[in-house]
Amino acid sequence: MADTKKLFIKTYGCQMNVYDSERMAEAMGGAGYETTDKPDEADMILLNTCHIREKAAEKVYSELGRLKSFKKDNPDLKIGVAGCVAQAEGEEIMRRQPSVDLVVGPQAYHRLPEMEEKTRKGKKALDTDFPEEDKFEKLKRRPKAKRAPAAFLTVQEGCDKFCAFCVVPYTRGAEVSRPVERIITEARDLVERGVREITMLGQNVNAYHGEGPNGKVWTLADLIWELDKVDGLERIRFTTSHPNDMQDDLIDAHAECKKLMPYLHLPVQSGSDKILKRMNRSHTAESYIRLIERIRKGRPDLLLSGDFIVGFPEESEEDFQATLDLVKEVKYGQAYSFKYSSRPGTPAAERPLVDQDAADERLQRLQALLSKQQKEVQDSMVGREVSVLFEKTGRFEDQMVGKSDYLHAVHVAGSGAEIGDIRKVKIVESGTNSLKGVAV
Ligand code: SAH
Ligand code: SF4
Ligand code: F3S
Repeated sequence: MADTKKLFIKTYGCQMNVYDSERMAEAMGGAGYETTDKPDEADMILLNTCHIREKAAEKVYSELGRLKSFKKDNPDLKIGVAGCVAQAEGEEIMRRQPSVDLVVGPQAYHRLPEMEEKTRKGKKALDTDFPEEDKFEKLKRRPKAKRAPAAFLTVQEGCDKFCAFCVVPYTRGAEVSRPVERIITEARDLVERGVREITMLGQNVNAYHGEGPNGKVWTLADLIWELDKVDGLERIRFTTSHPNDMQDDLIDAHAECKKLMPYLHLPVQSGSDKILKRMNRSHTAESYIRLIERIRKGRPDLLLSGDFIVGFPEESEEDFQATLDLVKEVKYGQAYSFKYSSRPGTPAAERPLVDQDAADERLQRLQALLSKQQKEVQDSMVGREVSVLFEKTGRFEDQMVGKSDYLHAVHVAGSGAEIGDIRKVKIVESGTNSLKGVAV
């Protein structure tokens, strides 16, 4: 048998990239590779990249510049670029950084083993096709080894929404939903490997419309109820959703499905209708707020998470104030906010930027407000009983760390719990970024 080779993967960007990295590692496992966390002992280094903002993409080039020197010590080392920068920039990557041997897009990575073989023959390999065949069909069934108790599972990929700022419809392609049966099989396999919590992933996960049994089209809510039946699976989550795809059956699931966790990531981007229109978001601030009210009616303890962009072209101080107002009205338990970054090829890239000092200052003000809200929501957990899924051991001897139903990190000492256990925990203290609890 040939020697095992070592693969080092560095993952940038969203959860879907985390999932893809796992699948790439598994695909390369079939080609004689095992993963390592030490880049200097790797035979292949793969960067799974993100193109969402300029900074994210530039990080990849500086990392590639640094990795180049690894080839001096190990001339057989192959360097590959996967993910959304690979899709967006393709051959340009090899031009800018000749040490790169391989470039593979997010829809072509089932071909990674054959591409690696090509690089072993001293050739460059590039594949950024959106192939007819489905990569999930071509990838082998996932291995059986025991794994961490929380897992991602991609159920939908791509986006047809074309928000004016966003590269995702170009890097991930059109919306595609995986068939129900495959998702359920993958979920069962994960549960057999020790998984207790599954987060279903999609760039527009609530637009899911996959082929179900009998050729019927299933919604995300149908999928949730099917996963609800899987013994051993205790928690269900999904991300990321678009407000316009929040259908009644999904809202009802939040009220009725015990395994569906009380957490929803529902990006709004801006609180100004003028800006929302310019962003091509096709919802208003008002419709978003009414929607949240409806969801909270069925699930009052729902923790809401959001994404925001400040400094979008034509954003005035008044528009920004509308965003602050929306945040105050909704009250977020978790939030991600960004300064607008102009992305080549998107409609908004043609428009003049707002004053960048003003944009920086707005981002600071928004982040101050969001941090305050997040802390308040976190602090409000003190005294409450939550359930915690333990994911790892803590820094202290008998301490375990896990996630609550609301996705807060919780430290618990002396519970006797093991990784993968779910326990009722009473929250006793709220720290900077995590909670402390005692088992009840
Ligand atoms: N599919 C998801 C998320 C896409 S990217 C959704 O529709 O919500 C994650 C977040 O990055 C977006 O929600 C947005 O807030 C931010 N983002 C996307 N493009 C951006 C850009 N050009 N500049 C700044 N932030 C951006
Ligand atoms: Fe990007 Fe908008 Fe699609 Fe989200 S919905 S991936 S922000 S285009
Ligand atoms: Fe980034 Fe691609 Fe995800 S651009 S956010 S890695 S879909």
